[in-house]
Order: sequence, then C-alpha cells, then structure tokens
Amino acid sequence: MKVTVIGSGYVGTTTAAVLATLGHHVIGADVDSAKVKKLSAGILPFVEPGLDEMLKDNILRGTLTFSDQVEEAIQASDILLIAVGTPSLDNGTADLKYLRSVADTIAASINDYKVIVIKSTVPIGTNRWLSDYLGEKVADRTLFDVISNPEFLREGHAVYDTLNPDRTVIGGNSQDAITIIKKLYHQLNSKLVICDWETAELIKYASNAYLAAKISFINEIAQIADKTGADILQIAYGVGLDPRIGTEFLQSGIGYGGSCFPKDVKALISTADLIGVETHILKEIESVNESMPNVYLAKLADSLDKVTNEPWTISILGLTFKPETDDQRESPAIKIVNKLLPACKEIRILDPTIQSNTKTPWPNDSKIIVCQTIEETLVGADAAVLCTTWDTFTSIDWNEAKAYMKNPILLDGRNLYEPNIIKAAGITYLALGRGN
Ligand code: UGA
Repeated sequence: MKVTVIGSGYVGTTTAAVLATLGHHVIGADVDSAKVKKLSAGILPFVEPGLDEMLKDNILRGTLTFSDQVEEAIQASDILLIAVGTPSLDNGTADLKYLRSVADTIAASINDYKVIVIKSTVPIGTNRWLSDYLGEKVADRTLFDVISNPEFLREGHAVYDTLNPDRTVIGGNSQDAITIIKKLYHQLNSKLVICDWETAELIKYASNAYLAAKISFINEIAQIADKTGADILQIAYGVGLDPRIGTEFLQSGIGYGGSCFPKDVKALISTADLIGVETHILKEIESVNESMPNVYLAKLADSLDKVTNEPWTISILGLTFKPETDDQRESPAIKIVNKLLPACKEIRILDPTIQSNTKTPWPNDSKIIVCQTIEETLVGADAAVLCTTWDTFTSIDWNEAKAYMKNPILLDGRNLYEPNIIKAAGITYLALGRGN
C-alpha cells in the first residue's frame, strides 16, 4: 500500500520505517527540510535502538523515502498517517496547531480518495473535528475518511513495540476505511479494537493515565514502606503477582517523565474540566508525581546537613527521563537538578547521551559541569543521585568510586542498587522503602 506519514518525529519515523519493513511504500513527509535531509541520508535525529538500521535498510531497498514537499507526498499516497506533535499548552490542554496546519495542507492538495489517520495523541473530539473541518474545506466530501489509530509504543522499545503491538485500535465511522487500515497492519496479527473516534481517543488517554496511576500508586506505597521499614521491591513483586494487578509499572522512584504521561494526564484532566466532569484520581496521579522529587530530596538534605554546612557538590547520574533514549522532556532528573541548584556549588552530570552543557537545560550555568566518566562525575561530591537506570550505572564499582567522593552518600532514585552492597562499600545508601 502507498502510505505517507506526515510528521517525522519520533512516532512518525518509527511508524514509517516499520510500515516500509512490512512491505508498504512509505514517504515520510515533514516541513523541516533539515530533518528530511538527515533522514534521507539514513541519519536519525534522536536515539532509538534498532531504528537506524531499519531506516537505512528500507532507504536502500527503496521502500522508504523522505520529503519536505508535503503536498506532493500527500498526493502520492492512498493512506495519510498524521504523526505530528501535540504539546501541552500552559493550561494543560493539547496544542493542536500542527494538526491544524496539516489539515490545511491536506485540504489544499487532496486529489483523490485518501484514508486520513490520526496517530498523534489528540483530545477527545479531534478526529470528529478533523472530519468536519475537512468536510467544509474539501469540495468533494467523498474524497476522504478519517480514522483514529492511536500509538502505544514506548521510547527505547519503539521498533519492538510497533512490530509486536498488544492491540491495534481503529476508530472511525467508515467500514471501508476501517477495512483498509486493518489491511495495512494485517501482518502484525495483533488484537483489534474497532470502535468510534471518541472511544479510540479515550482508549489512548485512559491507557497512559492508568499506567501513570500505577506509578503514582506505588510511589505513595513506597512512602508508607519507608516509614514502616517495609521493602517496596518485595511489596511491588508480591502485589504484582496477582494477575489482576500485574508486576509491570510498579517500579517506585523519583516519578514518571517523558513526552507522554505528564502531557496526557494533564490533557485528560483539562478535557474533563471542560466537559464538567470532576476528576479526583487523575489529579492525584499528577500531584503525587510532582511531589516525588521533593520526597527524595528531603532525605538527601537530612543526610547532607549532618555532614556539611557548605554549599553542596552533587553528582547526577542520568538526565534523560528513562534509559535508551536521549529524550529529556519532563525528566524528573531535571526537576531534581533545578531544586538542588540554589543549595549547590556544583552539579556534575553524567549521561551517555550528553556531551556538553549545550545539551542540557542549563547551557550557561557555570555550576553545571557535564562529565564523561564516572570518576570525573564523582570528584569532590557530597552526594551522588541516581536518576536514570542506564546500564552503565549498574556496573559502577562503588568500592572504587567512593574514593573520588568527598562524602560517600548515594541517593538511589530508581532502586537500582542493592542497599547492602552499597552499605558494605562504606557508602550511606538513601532510597525510599528500602529499609533505611
Ligand atoms: C509511554 C507508554 O508506556 C507507551 O505505551 C505510550 O505509547 C507512550 O507513553 C506514548 O503515549 O507515546 P514512554 O513515555 O516512552 O511510553 O515511557 P515509559 O517506558 O512508559 O516510561 C514513562 C516514565 O515512567 C519514565 O520516566 C519511567 O522512568 C517511569 N516509570 C515507568 C516508573 O517510574 N516506574 C515504572 O514502573 C515504569
């Protein structure tokens, strides 16, 4: 099938490469010419394991091309997948300016029948809006159908998730268009949910909100475990063994970040507010998450106050919102650094995806030192704070690493380490719900 994926960001590029691998002829269209040039040369503008090989293979096979001529790319395909960003506005609602602009481009260039698919996460009512909007702008209403087909991939596992989806949600009001999209994905053999636009849109928001709820829930339990001496890892395991609950997304820590959970929980709350539905759980998911950096930092401050009254030097291990990505959006590590800055003399950061200050949110702050090795990161540190579970941090030999620190204190924000091993190395181990 001929497919144009409009928007060559993270979801768009992954979808384009996977569809090309499945044998479709795919054009990745984007108004950003510099990005198109890079992608055409097989260069990914972000980190995603396995995607660069897939990109290059398909470019070589001729099944995947990229173009900044969006109108031509629209005309060349039968299926248009829209994967543009929907960032949060200050009031929490999703900003649909990119989608509106794509809708205008489609209206201006549509030449024959197209199935127009929204992949981006969009507020409830957006697919209906797009259908109505195009209906007003396109003289021949039979030239298109709109389908909602939300994406459920995780950054860092995007290729695997797209090739092995646990479900494919197809929302729409045209049986013909639904059949075409079923065919597009038929090789993936996933469970299908065929529904209307609003149901598909809400499945996406409810999924992310539920996963975020699991995280905030376990983070609240971790605080209770902490005060009672119970072990949160064993609790999460013991609770998760109930198949009705499941062990996934019960890892407690400094909170969730990324481009999805924070934005989607906020957007769902603001949709509910707009339509007059009072939300309680959704608001608490967010407020527990917001509070987590403070909960951890209070522990750190208590410990540091006992050993120094000078401004602190803190080593930050990991700045991205999770490992295997260079994405720092809404990263709890950034919140932690911002909160630490006023009390610090220096913050020394180590992250495999960051080589200089310009790649951090503090390009001109002389207190921020970006380091390349663990030794350099720990030099003179009053404490180290583990924020992201990059593999390389798992193998740190704390017996040796401790020697570089001024005060051997380790705040484990992701429960990466075994407390007894760290303590045996003569380091004060701080975490939440790990029996200390
Ligand atoms: C999330 C969802 O997992 C995907 O299913 C969804 O498609 C995607 O959002 C999206 O809407 O596009 P992603 O943001 O890539 O994917 O990352 P996750 O792996 O879900 O992690 C999100 C955050 O939660 C990270 O900061 C992670 O550290 C944190 N987390 C995750 C926890 O704190 N505890 C856990 O048990 C799991």
